[in-house]
Amino acid sequence: MSTPGNNHDRVPPFAGAGNLIYREPSVPRFVSAAGCWLTAADGRRYLDAEAANGTVAWGYDGELLQAAMRRCAELPALPSFCESELRLSVLSRLEGLVSGVLGVPGRVELDLGGAAAMETALRIAFATNGPGTVVVFEGAFHGRSGVTSMLSSSPRYRELLAAWGLEVVRLPSPDCRQCPHAPAEGGCGTGCRDAVSRWGSEVSGVGGRGFGRKVSAFVFEPVQNVGGMAEPDHALLRAAVDHARAQGAVVIADEIFTGMHRVGPRWGFERSGVEPDVVVTSKGLTNGGAALSMVWSREPLGHPDRYRPGSHSSTYIGIPSALAVVDAVLDRWAGWTTVTEDVARLEGAMASRLAGAASRYPELVREVGAMGGTARIVLAGPHAGRMRHLFRSVHPDTGVLVATTGMAPDVINVHPPLVVSESELDVFAEVFELSLKELV
Ligand SMILES: Cc1ncc(COP(=O)(O)O)c(C=O)c1O
Repeated sequence: MSTPGNNHDRVPPFAGAGNLIYREPSVPRFVSAAGCWLTAADGRRYLDAEAANGTVAWGYDGELLQAAMRRCAELPALPSFCESELRLSVLSRLEGLVSGVLGVPGRVELDLGGAAAMETALRIAFATNGPGTVVVFEGAFHGRSGVTSMLSSSPRYRELLAAWGLEVVRLPSPDCRQCPHAPAEGGCGTGCRDAVSRWGSEVSGVGGRGFGRKVSAFVFEPVQNVGGMAEPDHALLRAAVDHARAQGAVVIADEIFTGMHRVGPRWGFERSGVEPDVVVTSKGLTNGGAALSMVWSREPLGHPDRYRPGSHSSTYIGIPSALAVVDAVLDRWAGWTTVTEDVARLEGAMASRLAGAASRYPELVREVGAMGGTARIVLAGPHAGRMRHLFRSVHPDTGVLVATTGMAPDVINVHPPLVVSESELDVFAEVFELSLKELV
């Protein structure tokens, strides 16, 4: 048995601080992983209840990577401007994932990760509409690149690399706890729906009659991840999308986190019934094994007459090793024929365990809920950082990894691999209760 407290190594001074996820002076050093479990150098085991930031839907699975490498072993190194059968086959599979649900044809671009793909989505929107205002929800997070950090609601993400030319209008938060329009009885009222279709910004008068400046894109997450696992009310989201369409804006769904069944259906937008023009995803395509993302755009948005060849490229986009990882992961998804029922079962299993623990600590836990393969624990105060630490360290043998964010300091995000078992959820529930006991 390892002793909590002795099992964390201090971060050495040569390690840049900017990359650290766990913003603490000492963190476990992981040496191996299998299924939902990571093992640290000191032998302590951690249940990964955040699935490596939502990427490892299938858990840690060495066979997946080996299968991928076998698929590309004969291929030369092909930078982004070289074509291959593997690339075309993966693009066609990816295109079908979205057009099969929306029922309209589209085109797929590849990119190097979530933020880069969101920038590509904006390029596609601007190729049609011209560079104009972008509308997002308060609480949005779309990455930390120069442009996408401007869409983020956190000033911390914006302050160091601000793309000053981009005007961003923020609609009220879809999290009723944060929304100034929310009626006392909770939920979204007509005031909220009016607020999301009043785009007259103080900055530019966007949406005002006769005003020349256009809204080029409306960007939304079907469920806000960094914003604290908040799902916009479906009628509210539909009202915002209808208004976007009336304004001529391209509607972009950021499915980087929610895509591939993380919140139930294959795409998060299916929950509300909105039909986006552009869909961006990455995490569920690679199981964490490659930096690759995709941007699907409804025809003719990505047609070469509008979005010219070479509008965006980068040497490593779609190199064979990354494509092979996606190909192997897509095979897994194709074979999971009961995924919808299984994720619904996971939702129920998480909800009941969280509700049990929460009911015993009503003064500490304000609310719990599950949505597909995600759950959120809303604490009675900004204690998420401390709870994340307790989850890791409170149990003598077993740590649990959960996610918290600066934008929602009272919320713990839970999103284990989708293949997590009932007995592993029991471990989660036990450590949750121990952490609450310690927090008192
Ligand atoms: C909804 C959402 N958008 C964008 C991103 C950024 O993706 P990346 O970290 O790959 O740049 C993330 C990452 O967590 C995300 O959850």
